[in-house]
Amino acid sequence: METFSEIVFFIGQLVILPPYLAATSNLRGRKLSTGQVIKYILISPPFVYIYTIFLFGLIAALKRAGVLSALNEESLQNAVAWGDLLALFLSYLLALFYSKGAKGKDKLLFFFVYLCFYISRMVFDITFSELPEILFFGLAVPCIFSYAMYRFLAKPLTELAKMAKYLNAHIIVFALLLQGLLILRFHFNLFFMRYDFISNIMMKKLWNVELWFGYLIHILLLVGCVMLKQYMSSIREVAEKNDQLAQNNQKITRISIDALKTLAATVDAKDSYTNGHSMRVSRYAEKIARKMGYDQTAADTIGKAAMMHDIGKIGIPDAILKKPAVLTKEEYDRIKTHSEKGYEILQNMEYMPELALGARYHHERWDGGGYPEGISGEDIPAVARITAAADAYDAMTSNRAYSAMSVSYARSEIEKNSGTQFDPRVADALLELIDGNEIHGVYGVSDSGNESGNDAGIHRRNR
Ligand SMILES: [Fe+2]
Repeated sequence: METFSEIVFFIGQLVILPPYLAATSNLRGRKLSTGQVIKYILISPPFVYIYTIFLFGLIAALKRAGVLSALNEESLQNAVAWGDLLALFLSYLLALFYSKGAKGKDKLLFFFVYLCFYISRMVFDITFSELPEILFFGLAVPCIFSYAMYRFLAKPLTELAKMAKYLNAHIIVFALLLQGLLILRFHFNLFFMRYDFISNIMMKKLWNVELWFGYLIHILLLVGCVMLKQYMSSIREVAEKNDQLAQNNQKITRISIDALKTLAATVDAKDSYTNGHSMRVSRYAEKIARKMGYDQTAADTIGKAAMMHDIGKIGIPDAILKKPAVLTKEEYDRIKTHSEKGYEILQNMEYMPELALGARYHHERWDGGGYPEGISGEDIPAVARITAAADAYDAMTSNRAYSAMSVSYARSEIEKNSGTQFDPRVADALLELIDGNEIHGVYGVSDSGNESGNDAGIHRRNR
């Protein structure tokens, strides 16, 4: 009976082979050839275990033949116990070898198969090896549980690997294996108790305890698998909701940017200055800000503020804005109020105060000679200093009359007025952009080209 039990025990361990081969093939990314199947079976965990048993059988035989006379029965028993751990370790090394260079989910699947193997062995130790009369259950239970766990765990583990990249597959699986070992140890303790301390009557009860303990482990494992599966699906649900929220946020952001663009286009249309002036100033300002070392979020805000810099022109009569002739002093003064008007319009945009500041101060000069307040240097908000230079550059380069000359002309004007009209740091960033061909001039179409850019920063019609 004992030999038969052992044979069934070994056969039982082979239940792991189909999922093992499936996982190996998955890991290799292709179907395995017959030769490979044989090779992988020969170095599979059950076989490694069987080799270990043979190794210790050989040691026992050598001992019987008197070759290893120093080895007593107790140390042989110990060696067999340690051999069990050695088989575990060897199998783990094989798993490491196989999973080299594999993707996270394949790795987890493969390690999972190893886990199944140890659980099957545990089941055999607990339910079968001590209870030959329930041979059928001893064989059926690990088969069913191997399959059930494969079905239940493979997917959540794969998702876990995808979602938590920082979780090392080795750590998860090694922790699970250690847990399995602890259960195994508990079983051994019961085993020792039975033979050392417990009477025959108690033994019968303990059989039952072991039987139910074995089933309890399986039930707990299955419950754990189901819970893990549910947990993973709830995580997926949260992730989907987060995605939806992010999409909505994106939509709202796009709507507000579109609203700003519409407003900017309204101003540009009213001014009959040059098409798309506000959009270009916005783009230049954003680039200058990035060049000066602002992060993308800050540069985006500066770009939006620059887009709104002339919004106050909505409050200036068309007769002045669109006047074809040179403006009178009164008319010019009237136009100059557009910065204050812009501030009044934008001051309610509390979430982005830069908009109002940019509109109010974009005609201030570094040397204090600008308007409306005549402040100088760093008293002028950075957003307005950047907008001023971007505005001036576009005023000079977007006028068709200057043609290709305009960029080099604008460049020399920016350089010349650095430190007087423009913040030198802003001017340097802009010059660097021009020199690196990172910013383009000569955009759009102007309705007339009768003004030079020699007072860059003051709009063409403002003079
Ligand atoms: Fe302006």
